[in-house]
Amino acid sequence: MNYKIAVIPGDGIGPEVIEQTRRVLEVIGEKYGYTFDFTEVLAGGCAIDATGQCLPEETVEICKASDAVLLGAVGGPKWDHLPGAERPEMALLGLRGKLGLFANLRPAMLFEELADACPLKPELVSGGLDIVVVRELTGGIYFGEKGIKETDKGTAAYDVEEYSEMEVRRIARVAFDMAMKRNRKVTSVDKANVLESSRLWRRIVNEVAQDYPEVELNHFYVDNAAMQLVRGPKQFDVIVTSNIFGDILSDEASQVTGSIGMLPSASLATGNFGMYEPVHGSAPDIAGTDTANPMATILSAAMMLRYTFGLLEAADDIEAAVQKVLADGWRTADIAKPGEAVIGTKECGDRIVEAIRG
Ligand code: IPM
Ligand code: MG
Repeated sequence: MNYKIAVIPGDGIGPEVIEQTRRVLEVIGEKYGYTFDFTEVLAGGCAIDATGQCLPEETVEICKASDAVLLGAVGGPKWDHLPGAERPEMALLGLRGKLGLFANLRPAMLFEELADACPLKPELVSGGLDIVVVRELTGGIYFGEKGIKETDKGTAAYDVEEYSEMEVRRIARVAFDMAMKRNRKVTSVDKANVLESSRLWRRIVNEVAQDYPEVELNHFYVDNAAMQLVRGPKQFDVIVTSNIFGDILSDEASQVTGSIGMLPSASLATGNFGMYEPVHGSAPDIAGTDTANPMATILSAAMMLRYTFGLLEAADDIEAAVQKVLADGWRTADIAKPGEAVIGTKECGDRIVEAIRG
């Protein structure tokens, strides 16, 4: 089998973590008899420098013609002065919209070996944490009508939060399907005490729940959900929520694990197409210094094997290799405790490759 992967190294540490991830995929290919065809394309700040646009049309075309997209990170201070609509981050929104990536899966798990990094009291996370935030990614306030107008109170600006039944139904299905493979619990997060769009959201989620009698469903208002995530994070299995609430809660959930630099993500379209990227950003301060932790991107590649290609054994293999490298005590700077020996990006890749070769 041959799989076509569009690769967007992007900015900052993106190219370095992508390089190690490509090595890991190549070794996996050798071991299991697949080949991966990588096509590198531009998006983000580097694309602005090269073409004047953060998301060139060619990039979108190549992504569409591929089986999956692997992305490093985009953005950096070099482009911070640009107006909102021209910033590198807009490439992400463009990719999500144009590729129809409506379902964003952000697992937040506590790696046992890194439990000390968790900022919560040990009794709150004993036995580990394993939450997945299912964030709606192509609707709501991010993609609703927006504008600026002159009023008698001065300039006003607005962004509209709008959800259709179809949009809520399809993201709810993703969450319930996921829960069926996990601990069969879905928490839907909204602001139905105030927002009309949330009342629709809640009604449709309840409807979809009828098709999943084995899944326990509860509804939290977003303010309460934010509180419960630090007060009792073990009560969550799958959290499903809107684009903006998911943006906020997924950062909170990842920080609760203490290992934001370790967390992968998947953004899925209908069918099996998906874009895979680490949750962390482009870390421009350490770019090019062989310091970055490539594990989040490598774990994102594992998600790609699992969700887009259906290569479950190979996906497990990558995750086990990362676990082994951690268990053997290897640490990049971001996850090392004071005084612990530290390895660089490339050596971390070497260790994972070795662990896969066995
Ligand atoms: C994320 C990021 C993006 C978002 C930004 C960079 C546009 O915060 O992927 O969570 O808000 O979706
Ligand atoms: Mg965010």
